[in-house]
Amino acid sequence: MAKPYDPKDRFFLKAKAEGFRARSAFKIEEILRRQKLLGKGGAVLDLGAAPGGFLQVLAEVVGPHGVAVGVDIVEMKGFGKPWVKTAVVDLLAPDALDRIRALHAGRFDLVTSDMAPKTIGVKVTDEARSLELSRMALSVAVETLKRGGSFVVKVFMGGDFPIFQKEMRVHFGKVEVVRPEATRERSFEVFVVGRMFSAPPLP
Ligand SMILES: C[S@@+](CC[C@H](N)C(=O)[O-])C[C@H]1O[C@@H](n2cnc3c(N)ncnc32)[C@H](O)[C@@H]1O
Repeated sequence: MAKPYDPKDRFFLKAKAEGFRARSAFKIEEILRRQKLLGKGGAVLDLGAAPGGFLQVLAEVVGPHGVAVGVDIVEMKGFGKPWVKTAVVDLLAPDALDRIRALHAGRFDLVTSDMAPKTIGVKVTDEARSLELSRMALSVAVETLKRGGSFVVKVFMGGDFPIFQKEMRVHFGKVEVVRPEATRERSFEVFVVGRMFSAPPLP
């Protein structure tokens, strides 16, 4: 039987104790522990970054010689680290890519997206909105990743999930589905990890 929902579960308490802004920090930490997608001096873009749990972990991995960019429709508290750059950006707005490029003109080694819509409790609608955000994240990754780079994206398992996996395989040599330990037991979310990005040929 599934455990009852506990907003203050062990990952919540661990995040508080270790100074993380969100328990989701442990999800990206586990994904990066399993696969080396990023290293010191790297460049990473985090989509849907507020309040900044992922970004704290990513900023630590790249260190002061790297760059960690985080964007969200919600404003984030500063990180006090000059290599962490944040901005309020709606990923569904037409200027999203320009706003990201204004923060970092170069390409990224890793793009992550933990974006999630405000759910309304209607499964099909929530799934469709979530997939729209995952697809938008994929199109940003395609425009901003270095050849050989990686992409980690949260997706809610639903009707079109297999189609999304196919879309990922068009751009990435390796695609796998990961469910980190910090994911709540009753959640439908998984992370799709794409590696070995093959940049589209120049026009
Ligand atoms: C689960 S939270 C992300 C938590 C974050 N990874 C962390 O570790 O702190 C999902 C985020 O997606 C953001 N989001 C939803 N729709 C968005 C959009 N259209 N553009 C940018 N961010 C969006 C929300 O504002 C929210 O902060």
